[in-house]
Amino acid sequence: MSNGEDPRIEELRERREAAQLGGGTAAIQKQHDRGKLTARERVELFVDEGTFEEMDPFKIHRCRDFGMESRTFPGDGVITGLGRVNGRVTAIFAQDFTVFGGSLSGANAEKVCKLMDTAMKLGCPIIGLNDSGGARIQEGVVSLGGYADIFLRNTLASGLVPQLSAVMGPCAGGAVYSPAITDFIVMVEKTSYMYVTGPAVVKTVTHEEVTHEDLGGASAHSEKSGVAHFRVPEDASALALLKRLLSFIPQNNTEMPPPGPGTDDPNRTEERLNSIVPADPNKPYDMREVVRLIVDDGDFLEVHEHYAENIVVGFAHLGGRTVGIIGNQPQVLAGCLDVAASLKGARFVRFCDCFNIPLVTFEDVPGFLPGTDQEWNGIIKHGAKLLYAYCEATVPKMTVITRKAYGGAYDVMSSKHIRGDYNVAWPTAEVAVMGAKGAVEIIFRKQIAAADDPVAEEAKLEADYKERFANPYVAAERGFLDDVIEPRLTRPRLIAALSMFETKRDRNPPKKHGNIPL
Ligand code: HXC
Repeated sequence: MSNGEDPRIEELRERREAAQLGGGTAAIQKQHDRGKLTARERVELFVDEGTFEEMDPFKIHRCRDFGMESRTFPGDGVITGLGRVNGRVTAIFAQDFTVFGGSLSGANAEKVCKLMDTAMKLGCPIIGLNDSGGARIQEGVVSLGGYADIFLRNTLASGLVPQLSAVMGPCAGGAVYSPAITDFIVMVEKTSYMYVTGPAVVKTVTHEEVTHEDLGGASAHSEKSGVAHFRVPEDASALALLKRLLSFIPQNNTEMPPPGPGTDDPNRTEERLNSIVPADPNKPYDMREVVRLIVDDGDFLEVHEHYAENIVVGFAHLGGRTVGIIGNQPQVLAGCLDVAASLKGARFVRFCDCFNIPLVTFEDVPGFLPGTDQEWNGIIKHGAKLLYAYCEATVPKMTVITRKAYGGAYDVMSSKHIRGDYNVAWPTAEVAVMGAKGAVEIIFRKQIAAADDPVAEEAKLEADYKERFANPYVAAERGFLDDVIEPRLTRPRLIAALSMFETKRDRNPPKKHGNIPL
C-alpha cells in the first residue's frame, strides 16, 4: 500500500464487510421481500446508535458433510454482541435467516452460549431475536447438542437476568423451547410462527388440515395457547415493544427497576373512581379503566392482553416506581379465576418477584369458575399455582379490593394472610365466603322451605346476609384489611404505601427450591 498501511488491515476490512453481508445480497433481498428486516438491521434498530459491540463475527461452522466445507459464511447465521438500550447494557443475539435459514449449527450455538455466559457474569438482560429453520440439518446431533446447551443456560439464567424473546420468523420443533423458557415472548403477525410439529406432521398424525398461521401464528399463541405475551404488526414494532418492556424492569435480580418519568402528581385524586363500581353487583365495569386512572400518566403496558382476559396483568409506574399490576376483570367471566387466568397471573407474579417489582392487586373476584371443563382441566392445581406464587412472593404486596372478594379467591388474591403488606378496600367491597343468594340457599334451606312464603323469606334472609356480610367492615374489624379508603384517594394512598415499603425485607426459609404445583 502506497500510504504504508499494512495490507493485513485491508484484509480485515474486507473480511468485516463480508461478515456484514450475512448470506449475501440476494438472500437479503429475499428477506426484505418477505416483509422482514435482516438480523443486522434488527440489531441496529434495537440498540442505541453506535453502541453494538459484536462478538465472533468471523466464527464459521466446522461441518464437513454434504459439501458444507465449501459453504461457509462468517458469523455462521447468528449475530451476537453487547449493546446499550436506553443507555443500559444488553446482550443480544439475532438469528440470521439469510445464512442457511438461520439454522442452528454447533458453532452458532457456541456463539449464543458465550453471549449468555457473558450476560450472566455482567448481570444484564438477554434478548433473543428468533428467525430460524431450526436444527442445522447437515450437522445432526451436533446441532441438537447446541440447542441443549442453550436450554441449560436459559434455565440457569432464569430469575437471574431478564430474558426476552422476539419471534420474527419460523421457530419450530424443539427450537421453541428456548424462547419458551424465557420471561416474555413477542410474536410478529403474519411472518412468525411457533410449533412443535408443523402442519404436514399434524396432517399425517391427526388428519387435521391447518395452516402455519392457524397452527402457530401470532394470533394463535397470543389468544389461544398463551405462549406469546405480545403480538405486534411488524419487526420494528417488536423491537420498540422490547425496549418499552426493558424500561420497566431491572438489569438483574439484585437491582431495582429504573425509575419512570415521575412527572404525574403523586397526590392526584380521581373523582371518577368514587362512582366507577356500579350499584348493581352483577353489573361489570372495566378494571383496565381503574388501573389507567390510578397509575402514572395512565401508562399501562399490558401483558397477555388477548389471553385469559378475565385477569389483567402488566407493568406501570406509581410515583415513578415500576409496579406489576394484577387485576380481576369483571367484564369477562365476571372476573372469575379459571385455569388460564390462574396460569397467566401466577407466571406474572413470579416474574415480578424474581426482579424486585412490587405487586399491586386490584381485586373483584366472585370465585373460581365452576364446571367439569375447569375441574377436569385441573383448576385445583392451576389455581394452586397462583396461590403459591402470591404466597412465596417477598416483594412489597399491595391489594385494593374494589368489590367482590369471595371464597378461596379472597385468600389467593394477595390477602393479608399470605403476607399482603398493604391491604385496603373500597366501601363497595364485599368480603365473604360467597354471594348472599348462594349463602342463604345453603344455610337457610330448611327455613325457606318451611316458610309460608318461601320467596319472601329468601329475599328477607338475603337482604339480612348482605347487610351483615357484603361489606368490607367485617374484615376490617378483624385486621384482615389495613383500612377502608375512598376510591378517589387510591393513587396517593398506594404511592405512600409503596414508598414506605421500599425498605421491606422478607425471605422464605432456605431450601433448594420449592415444589410449585406444576
Ligand atoms: C439447514 C436450512 C434449514 C435447516 C432452512 N435451511 N432450514 N438449512 N438446516 N434446518 C436453508 C434452506 O436449505 C435454504 O438454503 C435457506 O435455508 C432458506 O430456506 P427456504 O426453504 O428457501 O426458505 P422458506 O421457503 O422461507 O422456508 C423456510 C422453512 C424451510 C419453512 C424454515 O426452510 C424449512 O422447512 N426448513 C426446514 C425446517 C426443519 O425441518 N428444521 C428442522 C426441525 S427439527 P438455500 O441454500 O437453498 O438458500 C429441529 C429440532 C430442534 O429443529 C431440536 C432442538 C431440541
